[in-house]
Formats: sequence, C-alpha cells, structure tokens
Amino acid sequence: MMIINTIAELRKHIASQRRNNKKIGFVPTMGYLHEGHLSLVGISRQHSDYQVMSIFVNKMQFNDPKDYTTYPRDYERDFALAKGAGVDLVFLPDDSEMYQNRLTYVDIEMMTDHLCGATRPGHFRGVLTVVAKLFNIVQPDYAVFGQKDIQQAIIIQKMVKDLDFPVTIIVAPIIREPDGLAMSSRNVHLKGQDRSNAVSIYKSLQKAEELIQQGVVQSYALIPAITDVITAGKPKKIDYVSVVDYETLQPIESLKEKSVIAVAAFFGPTRLIDNMIVEKKGDAYTCVY
Ligand code: PAF
Repeated sequence: MMIINTIAELRKHIASQRRNNKKIGFVPTMGYLHEGHLSLVGISRQHSDYQVMSIFVNKMQFNDPKDYTTYPRDYERDFALAKGAGVDLVFLPDDSEMYQNRLTYVDIEMMTDHLCGATRPGHFRGVLTVVAKLFNIVQPDYAVFGQKDIQQAIIIQKMVKDLDFPVTIIVAPIIREPDGLAMSSRNVHLKGQDRSNAVSIYKSLQKAEELIQQGVVQSYALIPAITDVITAGKPKKIDYVSVVDYETLQPIESLKEKSVIAVAAFFGPTRLIDNMIVEKKGDAYTCVY
C-alpha cells in the first residue's frame, strides 16, 4: 500500500493506473478508521480495481475548534487497517497541501441549513468544498459514502449531479455495534452510562419501523414516538428528530416514495446521529437502517 502526501504525486500515480485501464474507487475519510470505513472499502472493491482512501481531518468542516483538536487521530493504526481492507493507496495531505490561498467554496444552502446544518453552521460547506477538491484531485470512477451521514451523502449526490462530476456515488449501509449503536469515530468519547444509554437512538428507529409497518406514516405521529424512546435513554439533549424527503431533505408531513427519518442527540458531550431510509414500493414500506 502506498502513502502519498502531495497532490502532484497522487495525480501522477493515478494517471498511470488509468493508463492500465484500472477503474478507480475512492473512500474519503478523516481517519481513526473503524469497521464502518472498512466496509466502504469492501463495497468500493466490488465496483472498481484500484482503491484510494484519503485521510484528512478537514478543519474547514469543524464549527467547534475544540471538536477539531480532540478529533481522534492514529495514522499508524489507520494504515494497518486500510491495508488489511485492501486499500492500494492512502492520500494523506496536510493542511497546507489542501488549503493554500483558498477563496472558493462549494455550498448548497437550501439543503444544508437544517438537520445537522442547523447547529453546525458552515459544516456542510466545509464538507462539500473538501469533497469537491478531493474528487478533482483523485478523479475516481466510484466514491463510497456511508448512510450514517445521510445528509452528507445526499448533498454530495446533489453536488455531483449539479456540477457534472464524472463519478458514481454509492451510499453504503450503516455498520452497527452488536447492541445497535451506529459505528462512529466519535463513539470513543462515550463513557459509562452514556454508552449504554446511546442505544436508545437505535431503539427509536426500531420503534419507527414498527409504527410504519402498522400503517403510521404521518410525521406528527412518528416524531413524538421516536422522541419518547430517545428521551427514555436520558440523553443530555435531543438535537432533532425529523422526517424529510430523500431528494430535497425538506421536512414532509407524511412519508413519500423515498423519505429519511433522521435523529441527532447528545449523550454526555458526544453528539450522535442516526437515520433510516424509508422507501414505498406499492403499498409496502421498506425501512433501511
Ligand atoms: O465523512 C467524513 O469523514 C468527512 O465528512 C469527509 C467526507 C471525509 C469529508 O471530510
């Protein structure tokens, strides 16, 4: 597995892979890899021949400087895990390589000012800008993003469509701990009771599925039921419980052809997110979470 730090060297190397007709798969990350990231590599390998992973803790997407400094980092461990998962090349740029003289941003205001965007101003602008840069640098055929960060995955799909990036986006399933908690690099900050209470987020989605299968499709009924289950897990604060349209991310009154139920809550100081994609096929609803 190669580790490359500069854009110029990366471009040279990818160009030589392309000359050998290799399809490039790409998994962008901020490191501190867990099974969730490794599953993205597995999915990328099903579609492409040469696997690139970026590891870059993107300062621009942290609205809280403390969150940036405390974001867990362990590059040696990441390299070992990436290699084991079949990554061929890790792109590990530093801040100055990525952000010299930056004045240009990418944003989709309408889709980023609510859900996670409401409490993290500028976060998605930072995400879209760095992902656009990474796409231009790596020029992948396929890029894989986790469903766990569903708002991120949907806005990246929109950016790719609106700005004609020649890349296919794949949204990969959420990987969970045995008790149902969605895997996240931030879980390492969950201590004691907060860790066990945090599973109430997953339970709230199970409750939503149960209600949907009983025919409950109105947001005014689903949202309080989900909120009650999370509240029983004694979160420090519930950030949001929302039912939104999959394409536009706008709140909806009742489930549509494709909808997202998204939740965010704090357990201790740790903010956790989770979600369920609900699709209507004929009269039946399938819930993926
Ligand atoms: O999901 C992440 O880890 C980050 O938001 C991403 C996509 C790597 C951009 O920095």
